[in-house]
Amino acid sequence: MIKGLIFDLDGVITDTAEYHFLAWKSLAEKIGIEIDREFNEQLKGISRMESLDLILKHGGKETAYTEAEKEELATQKNEEYKAYIKGITPDDLLPGIDTLLKEAKEKNLGMVLASASKNGPEIMERLEIMDLFDGIVDPASLKAGKPDPEIFIRGAEMLNLSPQECVGLEDAEAGIQSINSAHMFSVGVGSRDAMKEADYAVESTADLNLKTILEKANQN
Ligand code: G6P
Ligand code: MG
Repeated sequence: MIKGLIFDLDGVITDTAEYHFLAWKSLAEKIGIEIDREFNEQLKGISRMESLDLILKHGGKETAYTEAEKEELATQKNEEYKAYIKGITPDDLLPGIDTLLKEAKEKNLGMVLASASKNGPEIMERLEIMDLFDGIVDPASLKAGKPDPEIFIRGAEMLNLSPQECVGLEDAEAGIQSINSAHMFSVGVGSRDAMKEADYAVESTADLNLKTILEKANQN
């Protein structure tokens, strides 16, 4: 019986996945590396420093920078990203999310955020949805990021539930792998190809329906 929902943030609750892409694209251009949306799929759900490493590798520059220089590049990206998120208001919830969160709350489902983003708490505050959630898994406390299951297992623990009593919602391939390895029912938002490993997938958050999700997950 499903009693909790564990949410990814960027690309599921709000469209910050787009801001991450724009900020990385701009940073990459400064150092002579081109990235496109197809490559960007690999960056979704992946921590800041791991994302930078993937970009440097993509541009054949994996040995071009010292650790200190890489920290500086990651900081530059984060500064640009933070400028984007300053403008976030409750109107920036993706379609269908407001209804989904409110219906889940009415049904007394537990809700936790499982995002790799260190900017998660600020975004949740700006969206004014923190009171609907039972907690945020602190990504800085994790031994391993997505696709490792740790973040979703920790999310279930925060609700005192087993992973089998929870549903995980994701837009990243690494995130779906993380949910699946946690033995949790995975709901994917995105293209059929990117979400092929999800237990249940929809193309847009507007297609997320709590009743359908619970029916599918409870049948599992
Ligand atoms: C999420 C996003 C990634 C991002 C990561 C770290 O998982 O999907 O694109 O790199 O968070 O975000 P941060 O805000 O800490 O740089
Ligand atoms: Mg995401």
